[in-house]
Amino acid sequence: METAGKVITCRAAIAWTSNAPLSIEEVEVDPPKAGEVRIKIISSGICGSDDHITEGKTKTPLPAILGHEGAGIVESIGEGVSSVKPGDKVITSAVPQCRECDSCLHAKGNCCLKEDVFSPVGLMLDGTSRFTCRGRKLHNFFGTSTFTEYTVMHEISVVKIDDAAPLEKVCIIACGFPTGYGAAVNVAQVTPGSTCVVFGLGGVGSAVVLGCRAAGAARIIGIDINEGKFARAKALGVTDCLNPQNFKKPIQEVVVEMTGFGADFTFEAIGTIETMVAALESCNLSYGVCVVTGLSPTGSQLSFDPTKLLSGRILKGCLLGEYKTRDQIPLLVDDYMKKKIDMDPLITHRLPFIKINEGFELLRSGKCIRCVLLF
Ligand code: APR
Ligand code: ZN
Ligand code: ZN
Repeated sequence: METAGKVITCRAAIAWTSNAPLSIEEVEVDPPKAGEVRIKIISSGICGSDDHITEGKTKTPLPAILGHEGAGIVESIGEGVSSVKPGDKVITSAVPQCRECDSCLHAKGNCCLKEDVFSPVGLMLDGTSRFTCRGRKLHNFFGTSTFTEYTVMHEISVVKIDDAAPLEKVCIIACGFPTGYGAAVNVAQVTPGSTCVVFGLGGVGSAVVLGCRAAGAARIIGIDINEGKFARAKALGVTDCLNPQNFKKPIQEVVVEMTGFGADFTFEAIGTIETMVAALESCNLSYGVCVVTGLSPTGSQLSFDPTKLLSGRILKGCLLGEYKTRDQIPLLVDDYMKKKIDMDPLITHRLPFIKINEGFELLRSGKCIRCVLLF
C-alpha cells in the first residue's frame, strides 16, 4: 500500500484523563517497527473494560487511545512479520499468543506472559509509542488501541481470520463473545441439564448465556440491576431474571432457595467484588463451580470465608474464555460464518466512530448489549 513506511495522519478518540468524554482528534500513527503490524480499523465494539477505564475504576496510563475489541485490515507490516500480510483481515486481541512463553507452551494456558492487561504499561514491547497527538506521545491500551482509524500492534496480538469474514460484526469475537462463551464451554464446561446463574446481562454475560445454552443447560438464571436487560436476556435463553434490588435478603440466598442447594455453575460478568462473592455463594457448596470474568477495580481485594471453598466449591477466573487467541479465535469466526454460533443478537447498536461518546452513554444507560463503532 502507498502509505507503507510513512506516518499516517488520521482520527482517533483520545482519553486525556478519566471521567471525561473521549476527544476526537487528529493523530500521527508511525509505521510499524520490527515484529509490528499497522492495521486499518473497520469496526470496534465498546466493552465494559473500556468503560472501567473511562470511569477511572481500573487504571491504565493516560493519555491513551482505548478500545480493544476491533476488526480491521492489515495496512503494512514491520520487518520479520510472517503471520499476516497487507490486505489480510484481522481481529485485535488484548491477550497475545507469543507461542514461546510458559503459558503459551502449556496445553491449556492462555494468559501469555507478554500481556499488558493486568499491570498495563501502555507501550509497544520495545517500550515506545506509535501514536502522537499535538506533539505529545499517547499510550496504547491492552496492546491494541482500536478507537482510531489506524493502530499499530505487535504481531503476537494480531489474529488472522477468514478473508470472507464480515468485519463489521466479528469485532465482538475479539473480546466480549469469547470471554463469556468460553467461560461457559471451556472453563466451567457446563453440563447438559444443569442450572446456571449469570451475574450481569451485558455483552459478556449475554455471551455466557449463549455458551450455557449451547452446552445444554436446563435452567439459566440471569441477574442484573437493570431490568431493561431482561427481555433481551430471555430471548437469548435466560429462563429466570432477578433484580437483586427487589429482594430484602442477599441475592445469593435467593438463588440457593430457588435452586434447592445452589446452582451447578455460576458466572460473574460485572466486575465488582460484591458480585464475585455473591456468585461464589450462589453455587452449590459441594460441587458448584463459579467462574469470574469481570475485570475488578485496580487494587481490589476479594474476601470471603475460606470454608466456602473447603466444602468443595471451585472458584476459577479466566481471560478471554481460555482461548489460545491466535490459534482458536479464527475457529470461532469460522463457526460463526458456518452459523454454528449466533452472536448477532449481541450487537444491538451501531454508530459511526465519531459518535463514540454516544456509544459509551448507551452502554452506561444499559440500553445496549454491544454497540459497534463503524469506521
Ligand atoms: N448487580 C447486578 N448487575 C449489575 C451490577 C450489580 N451490582 N452492576 C452492574 N450490573 C450490570 C449492568 O446493569 C450491566 O447490564 O452488569 C452488566 C455489565 O455489562 P456491560 O456494562 O455491558 O459490560 P460487559 O462488556 O458485559 O463487561 C462485564 O466483564 O470482561 C469483563 O471487564 C469486563 O468487568 C467487565 C465485565
Ligand atoms: Zn506467550
Ligand atoms: Zn473487553
